[in-house]
Amino acid sequence: MRVSVTVNGQNYVRDVEPRLLLVHFLRDELRLTGTHWGCDTSNCGVCVVQLDGVPVKSCTVLAVMADGHEVTTVEGLEKDGELDPVQEGFVQCHGLQCGFCTPGMLMTARWLLDRNPDPDEGEIREAISGQLCRCTGYENIVRSVRWAAEKEASV
Ligand code: FES
Ligand code: FES
Repeated sequence: MRVSVTVNGQNYVRDVEPRLLLVHFLRDELRLTGTHWGCDTSNCGVCVVQLDGVPVKSCTVLAVMADGHEVTTVEGLEKDGELDPVQEGFVQCHGLQCGFCTPGMLMTARWLLDRNPDPDEGEIREAISGQLCRCTGYENIVRSVRWAAEKEASV
């Protein structure tokens, strides 16, 4: 099937198998390997991207379901060489260790701050509750998102 998907502002047209998952479309067809692939069963959340601005687990979305839609991946966060504040926050507050969960965490954090610029700890934890991190204990992820919220409030 032919699909036309806008990813990080760029349009891609590809012929794909109807069963192809969005995560594999992004990683294997478009070579956007920033989106990670873990459990493949909708549990870990490392595959989270934004579909029309909403976080989705891309292992649960078929590529054909993204036809005519806009996808944003972690590669789309940086603008004109400037890191997004959520990326900066993860750097400043050590929001990652191995980094495997990080792309998905960043995409959810960006979505959260776009709809709630001043989330408290509970709201941040709820937003990322569908995503697993085996390393950080989540504490520094929460701090990283708060750092980004404060930075955005200060400009
Ligand atoms: S790979 Fe999608 S939720 Fe784990
Ligand atoms: S930093 Fe290793 S899984 Fe989150």
